[in-house]
Amino acid sequence: MSTIAPVLTAAAVSTAMPQRKKVTTAAFRQKKERGEPITMLTAYDYPTALAEDQAGIDSILVGDSLGMVVLGYQTTLPVTMDDMIHHSKAVSRGAKFALLIGDMPFMSYQASTEEAVRNAGRFLQEAGMDAVKLEGGRERVEAVRAIVGAGIPVMGHLGLTPQSVNQLGGFRPQGKTASAAKRLVEDALLLEEAGCFSIVLESVPARLAQLISKKLSIPTIGIGAGVGCDGQVLVTHDLLGLFDRFTPKFVKKYADFHAEMQRAFSEYISDVQSRAFPALGHSVEMDEKEWQALQKEIY
Ligand code: KIV
Repeated sequence: MSTIAPVLTAAAVSTAMPQRKKVTTAAFRQKKERGEPITMLTAYDYPTALAEDQAGIDSILVGDSLGMVVLGYQTTLPVTMDDMIHHSKAVSRGAKFALLIGDMPFMSYQASTEEAVRNAGRFLQEAGMDAVKLEGGRERVEAVRAIVGAGIPVMGHLGLTPQSVNQLGGFRPQGKTASAAKRLVEDALLLEEAGCFSIVLESVPARLAQLISKKLSIPTIGIGAGVGCDGQVLVTHDLLGLFDRFTPKFVKKYADFHAEMQRAFSEYISDVQSRAFPALGHSVEMDEKEWQALQKEIY
């Protein structure tokens, strides 16, 4: 028996590996039907979007969490449409395959249906997004219908909806009483009926999220909502340990990039101070003949 591993030709490799296709809202639905968990992360810039896309993520959300984890605000309320478009453009330059979802910021869809449709359209027309997300239940049905009617896929968002932080009395779990849970089930069904292709369930009891996921034919994406959702999303800066202020209970930290950045910056500072950086290899060289010519000119 030969111990030499067979060498695959490029052609054989390309037929052996399934070609990666752009993820669509239809693919989201098919994943739910097949019982395959949908993966989603946030991104706000080109390099993060590129790395997530290359890692094989199904969907990237340009979340308005941008306001807190990148821009340093205390809540998501100050985030504007222009902030979102600017960061969404960077993300769409980095990601080729993931379904790209732009998060509609506070007051971009609440004042009127017409404004909601126009602002949703900007995410697709100017920023290269494939869909939009907005927060709220029964009070958003009209806006969802109008945006979907304009040909723009909409993701809903129920439970802890950070744009309503002042109404909710803080960033706290939702749907913990039977009546609040019933209202969330009803809202989820109304959003599905209005045309949402998927719904984020944030910080709701796992049993409730599972019940909603079973009742809906569109996929649910959970954040702090247990394993019974059809997919999961995390804020990337939480997962990477890049957000210094707090880490929600439901986050699993996969890295400590804040500490790693501090370590690298301290090392750089000390290298510059000790003249260990730049070393010879980091400098541009000048041809000896040109150097001699310069010497003659100057001295
Ligand atoms: O803004 C955001 O990042 C979000 C996720 C937490 C779902 O809405």
